[in-house]
Amino acid sequence: PQGTTLDSDGELHVGGSAMTRVAARFGTPAYVLDEATFRRRARQYRAALPGVEVCYAGKALLTRAVARWVAQEGLSLDVCSAGELAVARSVHFPADRLILHGNAKTPEDLKAALDYHVGRIVIDSTDEISHLGPLAHDQRVLLRVTPDVDGHTHHAISTGVPDQKFGIPLGAATDAAGQVLDQPGLRLVGLHCHIGSQLTRIGAIEEATRRLIGLLATIRDQHGIVLAQLNIGGGHAVRYTPGDDGFDLAGLAHRLTGALAYESERHRLPAPRLTVEPGRALIAQAGITLYRVITVKHLPGVRTFVAVDGGMSDNPRPALYGARYTLQLIGRRSLAASHPATVVGRHCEAGDILARDVPLPGDIHAGDLLAVATTGAYHHSLASTYNLVGRPPLVAVHDGTARLLIRRETEEDLLTRDIGV
Ligand code: LLP
Repeated sequence: PQGTTLDSDGELHVGGSAMTRVAARFGTPAYVLDEATFRRRARQYRAALPGVEVCYAGKALLTRAVARWVAQEGLSLDVCSAGELAVARSVHFPADRLILHGNAKTPEDLKAALDYHVGRIVIDSTDEISHLGPLAHDQRVLLRVTPDVDGHTHHAISTGVPDQKFGIPLGAATDAAGQVLDQPGLRLVGLHCHIGSQLTRIGAIEEATRRLIGLLATIRDQHGIVLAQLNIGGGHAVRYTPGDDGFDLAGLAHRLTGALAYESERHRLPAPRLTVEPGRALIAQAGITLYRVITVKHLPGVRTFVAVDGGMSDNPRPALYGARYTLQLIGRRSLAASHPATVVGRHCEAGDILARDVPLPGDIHAGDLLAVATTGAYHHSLASTYNLVGRPPLVAVHDGTARLLIRRETEEDLLTRDIGV
C-alpha cells in the first residue's frame, strides 16, 4: 500500500497502524487491507479514463465494507453469483450500477439478479438466452463475445482465445444477438469481452476493442440496431515482485481513445460508451498478509525451509498460477546477511509453497513475523478451509485505526455445518 513504511526497528506501518500490533491484536495469519490505497486506485482509474465507466470486479475481494467503498467512489460493481449479489444488496448498492457475470449462472443467480433489478446481465451462452428470456421483463443485457485475441497470460486465466469456456465465439455472435432481440423480456444494450487476467500487453486489449466495434457494425447491418455500450473487461496486471512488468494505464487510455475514434468513424457508428472491469488493479496493492514463522529447517546442501502458520488455504495462487511474491521480515531489525529461503505453509502437501527461494535474513527464526505484499486481490476470495484450518480475518486499516471486516473462522464455525453425527 502507498502509506506503507518500514521504520528503523523493522516495524511496518500501513495506513497508520503498526503491523506487529495488528498481528498481536488479531492473531496470524491475517489479511490487512488499506482503505486509502483502494480509494486512491479508484480515483486514479476514474481520472485516467474520463467518460469510461469503471466497474470493480468483486470476485477479487468483496466484503460489505469494500462494496460501500466501491459505491462511494462512484464505481460500478461486477458480481458473479447470488452470494456476491447478497453482499452488494446488504449495503444497498445502487442496482443500476451492478453487472451480473458468469458462464453458468444458476436459476438462483438469475432470480436474485432479477429480484434486485440489476442494471445489466452479461449473457455468456445461447442457452442462457433461453433461460433468462422467459423470466425477465425489460432486463438490460450485454452479450459476452470471445474476440479471439490472446492476452498472453497464464492459461488458467486466459479467456480471449477460442478454446476456453467463456463467451460466444465472434463468428456466432451476430446470430446470438438476433436471438436476444427475439426475446421480448430482454433489451440488448451492448457487447462485452474479457480476454484474461494479469495482462501486461495493452495492445491485446486494444485489438479486442477494435474487433468488438467491428461486431457492433455487423450487428447494426444485420439487425438494424445500434448498441450503445462496450464493456472491454478487466485483467490489468499488477506488480507482485520488482521484476514484474506493470500495466500502462495512461497508455491504455490513449490507445482506447484512438481506437474508439478510428473504428467508429470507419464503421460510421456513434462511439459506444466504454466500461472497464478491473478487480486486481484496484485492490491487490491495498492488501498485505501477516504470518508468524513456526519452524525453520536448514537442510545443508538442499535448502532452508521457513514454515509459517498459513499457506495454501489462505493463498493458493502459487500452486494455481505459479505466482511469486515479495516478502519482508518485520517486527525486528536484523543485521544478518540475506540468504535464499523457501517459505512454506502448514498444510499436508509438499506443494504448499508460498514463495520459493526468496531472500530472507539468515537469522530468521520461529516467532518472527513475515509480511507478504500485494495480497488484496484473489487471496481472501480464494481461501479455503483445507485441513480444517479456519480462514484468516480481514482487518481494515485507515487513519491509524484498525478494525475487523471479517473475523477469523473458528472451530465452532467449521463444526456448525457438520450436522451428520
Ligand atoms: N471481468 C470478468 C468478466 C472477469 O472474469 C474478471 C476476472 C475480471 C473482470 C477482473 O479481472 P482482474 O482485473 O481482476 O484481473 N484467481 C485469478 C484471477 C481470476 C480472474 C477471474 N476473472 C488470480 O488469482 O490470478
